[in-house]
Amino acid sequence: MDVNEIRRQFPVLDQQVYGKPLVYLDNAATTQKPLCVIERERDYYLHENCNIHRGVHYLSQMATEAYENARRTVARFVNAKEAREIVFTRGTTESLNLLATSLGHLLSPKKVLITAMEHHSNLVPWQQMVKLYGGELLVAPMDDNGVLDLQAYEDLLKQGPQIVAMAHVSNTLATVNPIKEMIRLAHQYGAITVVDGAQSMAHLPIDVQDLDCDFFVFSGHKMYAPMGIGGLYGKTEWLEKMPPYQFGGEMVDTVSFEKTTFNKLPFKFEAGTPNVGAALGLETAIQFLEHLDRAAVAEHEDLLVKTAMEKLATIEGMRFIGQAPERSGLVSFIIDGIHPYDLGTIIDKMGVAVRTGHHCAEPVMTRFGIPGTVRASFAVYNTLEEVDVLVKAVERAANMLR
Ligand code: ALA
Repeated sequence: MDVNEIRRQFPVLDQQVYGKPLVYLDNAATTQKPLCVIERERDYYLHENCNIHRGVHYLSQMATEAYENARRTVARFVNAKEAREIVFTRGTTESLNLLATSLGHLLSPKKVLITAMEHHSNLVPWQQMVKLYGGELLVAPMDDNGVLDLQAYEDLLKQGPQIVAMAHVSNTLATVNPIKEMIRLAHQYGAITVVDGAQSMAHLPIDVQDLDCDFFVFSGHKMYAPMGIGGLYGKTEWLEKMPPYQFGGEMVDTVSFEKTTFNKLPFKFEAGTPNVGAALGLETAIQFLEHLDRAAVAEHEDLLVKTAMEKLATIEGMRFIGQAPERSGLVSFIIDGIHPYDLGTIIDKMGVAVRTGHHCAEPVMTRFGIPGTVRASFAVYNTLEEVDVLVKAVERAANMLR
C-alpha cells in the first residue's frame, strides 16, 4: 500500500496551518474526502442535477438510475440481501432517530438495552423513547480497560429488553465490541439488534448477513464520503412492519384527505428530496475503499495506533483511556494534571489536529472520572512520521503546561 500515492488523492492534507504542515488526526470526527468523491459530487451538479423518482424527462431518469445504483453499491458493500433493505439518511444520528421513533411506535418498548460506551446519538434517542413509553434504559457495564462485561450484558438480557443497541467500535475508547456474539445472545433472549457502525465502516469489513443484525447504521462522512449522507440497513421483515418516520412527498402511495397509503420499501422511509449528489459521492467513496487492499489498510491503521501508544506511553503522567485488546482506529489519553483542552489547543498551534473533550460520550467520562480526553484518530492516509509529530507535540505541550 503506497500511502504517499493515497495522500496525493487528498489535496486538503497538503497545506500548512500556523506555518506548520497539517497533521490531521481527527478522522473519527470526519475523514477527509478524496478527489474522486469531490469530483463525483461536482459532476452530478454540473451534468446530472435533477429531482428523482418524479420526472419523466431524461435528466430525472438519469439521476434516479444513478441514485438507485448508489443504493445497490451500499447494499453490496455491507452484503445486504436486497437493495431495498438500504435506506438513505443524513447519517448515523438520523438513522438512530428513525429507528427509535419508528420502533417506538411499533413496539411501545418498556426496556431497551445499550452499552456503557455509547455515543450520545446511540443513547439519547433510546432514552427519550423509553421515557415516552414509561420504560427503562438498561446499560451493560464495561471494565477499566473499556471492555464490555459480557456476563453482565447477558444478565441484563434476561430482564427482557425488546431492543438492544450497541456500538461496533467505540468513538472514545476504540474498543471493538464482540457484536456477532452480542447479536446472537440478544436474539436468544428475543431482542431486536441495532448496530451503530459509525466508527467501523471505514476500518472493518461489514457483512450484515453474517452478523445477523436486524439493523446497522452508518455515516458517509466518516468513510471518505461527503457530509449529509449515511444509511440504515434493516431486515425486510422489520422495515415492512415499521411505520414511517417522516411524512411528505415520495414516501406515499395514494393520498386523500381521509387517508394515506405508503410507498414500498425503501421509499416509505425517504420522505422529501434526498441528497442525491452526496449519495453518488458515497458510492464513489465505497469504490475508493474497494480499490484498496482493505486488510493492508487495517494493518497500516493498527500499526499507527500501536506506534502512537508505545511512544506516547513514555511521556510522564500518560494515562490511556481505553485499552481493550480488540481496538480500532484511535487512541484516547489524558496526562496527569493537564486539562485535555489546554493540551489540544497547544498542539493545534503545532499543526496537529486532534479532538479534545467528552467526544459526545459524557457517561464514558463519568465512568472514568475525567473531564475529557485527547483523541488522535487515524485514517488510511496517515503516516508514521505524523505519529512522531504528534508524540513530539504532546511532549512539548506537556512540558509547557506542567
Ligand atoms: N461522532 C464524532 C466523533 O466521535 C463527531 O468525533
